[in-house]
Amino acid sequence: MKRIYTLAFILSVFSVANPLAVWAQSRAEGQKLYSTHCSACHGEGGKGDGPAGKSLPIKPADHTDGKLMNSFSDKFLSEIISKGGVAVGKSPFMPSWGGVLKENQLRDLVAYLRSIANPPYKASGK
Ligand code: HEC
Repeated sequence: MKRIYTLAFILSVFSVANPLAVWAQSRAEGQKLYSTHCSACHGEGGKGDGPAGKSLPIKPADHTDGKLMNSFSDKFLSEIISKGGVAVGKSPFMPSWGGVLKENQLRDLVAYLRSIANPPYKASGK
């Protein structure tokens, strides 16, 4: 019996301390946020094919395209999301979300974007 408690204890500590679990959680949160706020233009799967995106003069990029997306730093991604396209010299049709989303939600969205890139994103510390 004692063994089971010990095992349960170890597992619970592991799940709290495991950074992958945290990453997976923020990614899942990010996916929900993306689906709610971003998919109209960016598409449910991030391919830039949302119903509203199709009619825009400047089309959103394919967020699953790792070659492009991996070249953006976390800072750039959270900046364009929070401050909008104009703030980073891009299309005004990319709205600013700073007034709607909190800091941790911006991080969740970046984690989600990182998770859909192919080839996969490797953090470079940028
Ligand atoms: C009203 C349409 C619209 C919505 C909603 C929208 N975006 Fe965008 N977004 C754009 C457009 C258009 C661009 C392209 C800007 C350019 O290339 O000049 C863009 C660009 C971006 C980029 C830079 C890469 C790219 O696609 O060019 C990121 C990252 C991004 N959006 C994330 C988000 C996130 C995250 C959300 C939701 C919180 C969101 N966007 C909601 C229209 C939108």
